[in-house]
Amino acid sequence: MNARTLERYAVMGFPVTQSLSPFIHARFAAQTGQSLTYTRIAVPVTDFQREVRAFFAGGGRGLNITVPHKQSAYVLADHLTERARLAGAVNTLKQESQGLLGDNTDGVGLLTDLTANLGYNIAGRRVLLLGAGGAARGVLGPLLHAGPARLTIANRHAERALAMAEHFAPLGPVEGKALADIDTAVPFDLIINATSASLQDEVPPVPREAVVADTLCYDLAYGRSETAFTRWARHAGAKHTAMGLGMLVEQAAEAFTLWRGVRPDTKPVLRALTAGEGWD
Ligand code: ATR
Repeated sequence: MNARTLERYAVMGFPVTQSLSPFIHARFAAQTGQSLTYTRIAVPVTDFQREVRAFFAGGGRGLNITVPHKQSAYVLADHLTERARLAGAVNTLKQESQGLLGDNTDGVGLLTDLTANLGYNIAGRRVLLLGAGGAARGVLGPLLHAGPARLTIANRHAERALAMAEHFAPLGPVEGKALADIDTAVPFDLIINATSASLQDEVPPVPREAVVADTLCYDLAYGRSETAFTRWARHAGAKHTAMGLGMLVEQAAEAFTLWRGVRPDTKPVLRALTAGEGWD
């Protein structure tokens, strides 16, 4: 098969130059013997609909969608998976005979990273989710599905946390509050940073007492070394910290499986990224 007939996939975002997705999907394709191309496409907000339509009209098979387009992709999709509907956002589009299918693999990506890669079981745990934006909403459904004893959403603007808790209340024991009102009488088992603070090298104002040695502190953001949040957590005494690199690989595997019908092995790809491969 030559390059012209290879089935085309891409990630659309703005900016997208740093995206590790082409590396990840190229590894998945090589590993499973799938013939495809996967590129980065930088798309400003105003051009999103047009670029998506042009990509699929030109024979493209599937897209990953990243910041800032996940809500626009949700609106654009002709059909949605249940988890995308719940998240209110789409990170994966697939061309199907009935139209464009929108899925959201972020939440399952986080859960797979926590359980399969980190060996962490959420059932019965006390979980603190920092942030009430799109990233938090994307992972909340699968987190509640995993059966925590209690999940607290804490946000700078409390009203967003309260509204999100109310929306997701049918799925499990969830409460919303202001970051300033976090109750530390009983420390948390798991703290997940879903704010965008790490992108500015900032840390949400969480009381240090929320963390004890056994608290797993997980930042959805990732970098080649620590993020501001994992550094803060380590200084606060947490023995276990993790970044969203594993989640990135796992959400990609879920998208790849949806597109190609074959599940790649994520372990060697995560190992390669952790060892520094794939970062331009
Ligand atoms: P995303 O899609 O990445 O979640 P978003 O919807 O803009 O982006 O949400 C960003 C989240 O990070 C919000 O919860 C925001 O808090 P507010 O809703 O109170 O604005 C949170 N956030 C961003 N920077 C932060 C900071 N420096 N400290 C605490 N929270 C921060």
